[in-house]
Amino acid sequence: MAKHTVALGIDIGGSGIKGAPVDLTTGQFLQPRRKVATPAKSTPTAVAAIVDQIADEFTDDLPADAPIGVTIPGVVQHGVVRTAANIDKSWIDAAGEEIFSEALGRRCLLVNDADAAGVAEQRYGAAKGEQGLIILTTLGTGIGIALLHNGVLIPNCEMGHIEVGGHDAETRAASSAREREGLSYKAWATKRLQPYYAMMEQMLWPDLFVVGGGVSRKHEKFLPLLTLRTPIVPAALENQAGIVGAAALAAD
Ligand code: BGC
Repeated sequence: MAKHTVALGIDIGGSGIKGAPVDLTTGQFLQPRRKVATPAKSTPTAVAAIVDQIADEFTDDLPADAPIGVTIPGVVQHGVVRTAANIDKSWIDAAGEEIFSEALGRRCLLVNDADAAGVAEQRYGAAKGEQGLIILTTLGTGIGIALLHNGVLIPNCEMGHIEVGGHDAETRAASSAREREGLSYKAWATKRLQPYYAMMEQMLWPDLFVVGGGVSRKHEKFLPLLTLRTPIVPAALENQAGIVGAAALAAD
């Protein structure tokens, strides 16, 4: 089978569902991404209709056999969604890959959002060429984690939910917690991120942390305040990483 050079990536997030065709050689978008607001009730049926709508917008510009990858903010085991921390609970145990494939009228790949972002950063971004254990953390509504060892993804790591100081870590250290509680970047970094990353490095001994999510644009306000033995760098692809990684994994 010929190697694909282009694939479509679609990233389902809490506020928006975004998609774009991706050049798999460079990891760049071939066209500006399309974004549709996530429906207030983000059930599988409602979300699948939007995913189809976004895919339709690019049909004319993509090869008919271009792979399609879709992300979701939950555990995905063999195409089935297993958790739904920040999306509609009706996703739990939904056959997500089948639902999207039916809506699109062709096979697609469904993958956890952070796993997609991690693959994108390893292949095209901040962890390009890096060996060893890379941990990508996305700080957004929740905390997403991707574990990659020597470039190989170990999927569905849910260590955004480890208990730190008696709390589910993402409820205190995600970017949404900083906003909700009106914390300064300094307070968030020193009181919330520091214990979280310290715990992660103590348990996993990574070679590199990559920090993604929208807030990574403001990395100079909080990353320099962390004291860790592990190098920690901002993501390079920011909010594009989910789309790019979904496309790349679909083409694998
Ligand atoms: C979910 C993860 C997801 C992360 C980022 C967490 O609440 O459990 O599966 O990757 O949020 O969206």
